[in-house]
Amino acid sequence: MVKLTGYKKVKTAVFISGTGSNLRSLIKFSKIKNSPISINLIISNNPDAKGLNLGKINKIKKKVFNFKKKLKIENQILSCLKKHEIKLICLAGFMKILSKNFIVKFKGKILNIHPSLLPKYKGLNTHQRALDNNEKYSGCTVHFVNSKLDSGKIILQKKVKISKNETKVSLSKKVLVQEHKLYPKAILKVFNL
Ligand code: GAR
Repeated sequence: MVKLTGYKKVKTAVFISGTGSNLRSLIKFSKIKNSPISINLIISNNPDAKGLNLGKINKIKKKVFNFKKKLKIENQILSCLKKHEIKLICLAGFMKILSKNFIVKFKGKILNIHPSLLPKYKGLNTHQRALDNNEKYSGCTVHFVNSKLDSGKIILQKKVKISKNETKVSLSKKVLVQEHKLYPKAILKVFNL
């Protein structure tokens, strides 16, 4: 569990690679009086990530790191997180795999949202794989990050029914709507709220 110290919100960094709709929902959540977190930093591996615009609109500092030399870059990110006194990391559509070295430095303080009912469909292309397997349900999961891909302790999940004529596009939209509700709920749970 992440502990709240006094009444101060816990400084949080959100890592993104693309659209940033989960980032948007987390920013909205962070502004609620009773939210345990504030979003103080947005980190991306992708300079063209649409979600970076949310930094400008909401006056949140953003940083882009080129992941070609991963270990070196991760050390730079760690310094940046320290500088900004970040105590919690939320991965939100971040499509790079963080190294064990990085994860142990933030043990128990990195959360991720994944568009499937883990442990089913770890990794990429989750919606198509669920459809190909004729699943009746899919959904999303918020979990702690450990050094194995999409395998850390599950915090919360939300099930979504797959309709008859579902496509991967319609399913991803349906799941995304639930993701936006699930991530804030999972954060409240992590803080015992
Ligand atoms: C979300 O569906 C998220 O669960 C998924 O990427 C999408 C990002 O959307 N994440 C992963 O697949 C991680 N393996 P967003 O940029 O609009 O939040």
